[in-house]
Order: sequence, then structure tokens, then C-alpha cells
Amino acid sequence: MSDEKVEKTAEKAVEPESGATPKKKRNKKLAIAGIVVVVLVAVGAGMMVWHEDPSFCSTMCHIEQTYVDNYMQEQGAAGVDKYGKEVSNTNAMMAVLHRNTKATAKPQVLCVDCHVPNMMELAHDGVNFVSGSYSLPRDERTAARLNSWDNKPGESFCANSTCHVYLLGDDGLLDYDKLEASTKTRAFNPHEQHHENLALDCTACHKGHRASTVVCTGCHQHEDVTLPDGWVTYDESQDLMKEVFPGASATAA
Ligand code: HEC
Ligand code: HEC
Ligand code: HEC
Repeated sequence: MSDEKVEKTAEKAVEPESGATPKKKRNKKLAIAGIVVVVLVAVGAGMMVWHEDPSFCSTMCHIEQTYVDNYMQEQGAAGVDKYGKEVSNTNAMMAVLHRNTKATAKPQVLCVDCHVPNMMELAHDGVNFVSGSYSLPRDERTAARLNSWDNKPGESFCANSTCHVYLLGDDGLLDYDKLEASTKTRAFNPHEQHHENLALDCTACHKGHRASTVVCTGCHQHEDVTLPDGWVTYDESQDLMKEVFPGASATAA
């Protein structure tokens, strides 16, 4: 039933008694209108809750299934990436690592927490899906590309008012000094801002749905950079992308 109809029903139900309508009948109409409103609210709320559920993504668009399966893998165990390639520790994939966190403020990170829905992006993807204008595997997004729909810089994909807030400066944007300090106890600090010209996106290293990499190892391999469990070197990451996308020269490194 449309909203308009409900309103009309509700209007009728509260119409001042013309004398002809017996009281009993009017109460019945009121009750029906009430039930309709309750049902509509419940359906609306259900849609909202369902939209947050990862299954919503794959029900709406079956090519998302790969990403749902990827996300649902056991944490801290051997698994596979979005291309079906082995990953020795699933925690090296940010989507899996964040699904259940130990943080009390955010014990669980859903698809829509990272991929905040943008109506333009959804419409764009929807049209491409229906018209078949996409290829599989999907070409890889960087955080900057994912965030461009909201005119936000790439780093605010990870550090924003709801996630990794402690890395923000007073201007609400990522503070690189804080980022550098967060891992300063490591023998090789991956967040050290030594090369200004590198201007790395967070996703250059932190991969959502495949093994993360420390891009610095492309040049600093001689320093024996210790990789977190499951992470791969820059060369291994490049090799993977060449294997998955033969012919493509550069990758989203
Ligand atoms: C050069 C590679 C690289 C880049 C680029 C990078 N990181 Fe990291 N980051 C790492 C590594 C390696 C770790 C350690 C991960 C571990 O121990 O599991 C890490 C850890 C972290 C952590 C956890 C810190 C902690 O308390 O242990 C956060 C949060 C983080 N990065 C945020 C970011 C954000 C936000 C960006 C983008 C602005 C970013 N990183 C860019 C490599 C990188
Ligand atoms: C912790 C944040 C995070 C969560 C949670 C997350 N993603 Fe992602 N997602 C990313 C990042 C980062 C990328 C960029 C590509 C990459 O690194 O794999 C990405 C890329 C994508 C892409 C673009 C295609 C590509 O390979 O670049 C799709 C589609 C996607 N995610 C779907 C999902 C779905 C569906 C879920 C939930 C089942 C989900 N993501 C959960 C971070 C996340
Ligand atoms: C394109 C190659 C290249 C990449 C990629 C690269 N570096 Fe370097 N890095 C160098 C070279 C060459 C030097 C020595 C010259 C200098 O200091 O700039 C150096 C020096 C440094 C130094 C100064 C101390 C030292 O070890 O000599 C730090 C710290 C550093 N890099 C950190 C990083 C971090 C962190 C990353 C990844 C975010 C990174 N580098 C990525 C080439 C690279």
C-alpha cells in the first residue's frame, strides 16, 4: 500500500463523526490504519537492517558474492584472496581483519562501514551491472578511487570520524605525524614519511581483499623488513597482479 493511500485511510479514520458512522466501525478503521503504519515501519526498518547485512550486497548483485565469501573467512587462518589465490594468514586482508575487531567501540566492521554507500556510485554500478559493462575479476580500486565519489581524500577511507579517529588532526584529516608515531617501535617503520614524493595511498599497502604488502620492500629489501603475518613483499604483490591481469602494466600498488 502506498504512503498516499495510508494517509488517506488514516484521514478517513479520524474524520469527525458525521453522525452516520457508528463508533464501532470508526474504531475498526483506526485499528487497521494503525496496523498498516506499523507494518510499513517494520518493513522499512527491515530493509535498513538488511542493507547492513553483507548478504544484501550479494543478493542485489551476484558478482559481490566473491567479496562476501572473502570477508566471511575465518580470521587468523590460512585462506584465499578475492582472486582465489592462497593467503597464509587471512588477517593480512583488511576486510577479514576488521570483520570482528577487539575494539569495544567498534566490535564489528560491516561492508557498509568501509564502503559507505553513495547513491551516485550505487546508481553507476547498478547501470554497469545491468548492462553487463564490467569484467571479472573486477579491476582493483584504490582508496582514493573509492572515495572520489564523496570528494574525499583516499586516506579518509580508513581514518575518519568513525574509524581510526585517533589518527586525525584538528582539521579532521589524517595527521601523518600521528600515523608515523603509531608504528614507531617497529625496526622498520612502514609509516615513516621519509619520501614525500611517494605520496602513498593507505591501500598501496593495506589491501582490503587480498594480502597486504609493504611497498617499501621494492627498494628496502636488503634491510630485512619484517612483514606482518600473511603480508607479502612488493615483488610478490606485483607478480600476483600480473598473473591475475596479464597484459596490464601498472597495478594499484
Ligand atoms: C608502506 C606501507 C603502508 C602504508 C602506505 C600504510 N600502512 Fe598502515 N601499516 C603498515 C604495516 C606494515 C602495519 C603493521 C601491521 C601489522 O602489524 O599487522 C601497519 C599498521 C597500521 C595500523 C595499526 C597500527 C597499530 O596500532 O599497530 C593502522 C591503524 C594503520 N596502519 C593505518 C594506516 C593508514 C590510515 C594509512 C594511510 C594513511 C596507512 N596505514 C598506510 C603499512 C602501511
Ligand atoms: C576494512 C574495510 C573493508 C571491508 C569491511 C570491506 N571492504 Fe571491500 N574493499 C576494501 C578495500 C581497501 C578495497 C580496495 C581493493 C582491495 O584492496 O582489495 C575494497 C574493494 C572492494 C570492491 C571493489 C573491487 C576491487 O577488487 O577493488 C568491492 C566490490 C568490495 N570491496 C566489496 C565488499 C563487500 C561486498 C564487503 C562485505 C562483504 C566488503 N567489500 C567489505 C575494504 C573493505
Ligand atoms: C623507489 C625506491 C624506494 C622506495 C619505494 C622506498 N624507499 Fe626509502 N629510501 C630509498 C633510498 C634510495 C634511500 C636512501 C636515500 C634517501 O635517504 O632518500 C632511502 C632511505 C630511506 C630512509 C632513511 C634511512 C635509511 O634507511 O636509509 C627511510 C627511513 C626510508 N627510506 C623509509 C622508507 C619507507 C617507510 C618506505 C615505504 C613507505 C620507503 N622508504 C620506500 C628508496 C626507496
